[in-house]
Amino acid sequence: MTTTTPFAAHATAVAARATDLSKVYGQGETQVVALDRVSVDFGQGRFTAIMGPSGSGKSTLMHCVAGLDSFSSGSVRIGETELSTLKDKQLTKLRRDKIGFIFQAFNLLPTLTALENITLPMDIAGRKVDKQWLEQVISMVGLAGRLSHRPTELSGGQQQRVAVARALASKPEIIFGDEPTGNLDSRSGAEVLGFLRNSVRELGQTVVMVTHDPVAASYADRVIFLADGRVVDEMHQPSADRVLDRMKDFDAKGRTS
Ligand SMILES: Nc1ncnc2c1ncn2[C@@H]1O[C@H](COP(=O)(O)OP(=O)(O)OP(=O)(O)O)[C@@H](O)[C@H]1O
Ligand SMILES: [Mg+2]
Repeated sequence: MTTTTPFAAHATAVAARATDLSKVYGQGETQVVALDRVSVDFGQGRFTAIMGPSGSGKSTLMHCVAGLDSFSSGSVRIGETELSTLKDKQLTKLRRDKIGFIFQAFNLLPTLTALENITLPMDIAGRKVDKQWLEQVISMVGLAGRLSHRPTELSGGQQQRVAVARALASKPEIIFGDEPTGNLDSRSGAEVLGFLRNSVRELGQTVVMVTHDPVAASYADRVIFLADGRVVDEMHQPSADRVLDRMKDFDAKGRTS
């Protein structure tokens, strides 16, 4: 028997799934319910965007699903693995082996070159780098001429391309991005989104991205809308205009429409 959730990914295997996921910060009067029984699937080989007002729980959801943060109740599955069954070390290993991250602040090590930054996670894990794959990723993000540069010698857009290449290089089962284009001008942002889109289309990569930007969300196959820690809507094959309209709707009707 298959379990259906209200916001299930259609006709595709599930790369990650949250079921009745809740996250409560603090206690008593200062208690904040950041996630309130969220059930959502992220389909394999799909590009999913997470949107919603500031404070709606987007980053919290991403961090909990990616195994970066603990949760209060419910469950999270990456592939076939329930995160709650893992000990700390196993969780670290799962994050390292199966998940790629791209953050708003590119999180590159300043003393390393672009190439060293890209291969760092694999070097730490003691994993052999697939050279052919690495070349393909580097050429896709257009960094071939910049590999020996350090982050300070690269533009913001180039630094984020290094972060995208780093996330793709280990062939993770799923890439999570928290506003990966938030610090970029619209042209560099469009480039990075194009690379993510390509990695989904051509490499079958699974991508989950938090964004405030309807244009960024329009690169996704599907948008999940959060409000007050709950999933309140979703949209397939989004266009920037439809996403913008939906967000205006939130503002007009309040957050728990
Ligand atoms: N460490 C923390 N301690 C207490 N409350 C927290 C903590 N982290 C987040 N919160 C609260 O949880 C709620 C959800 O936060 P979260 O960062 O997930 O929002 P978000 O949707 O990512 O917002 P933004 O768009 O501003 O990044 C907010 O009300 C926030 O204040
Ligand atoms: Mg956030």
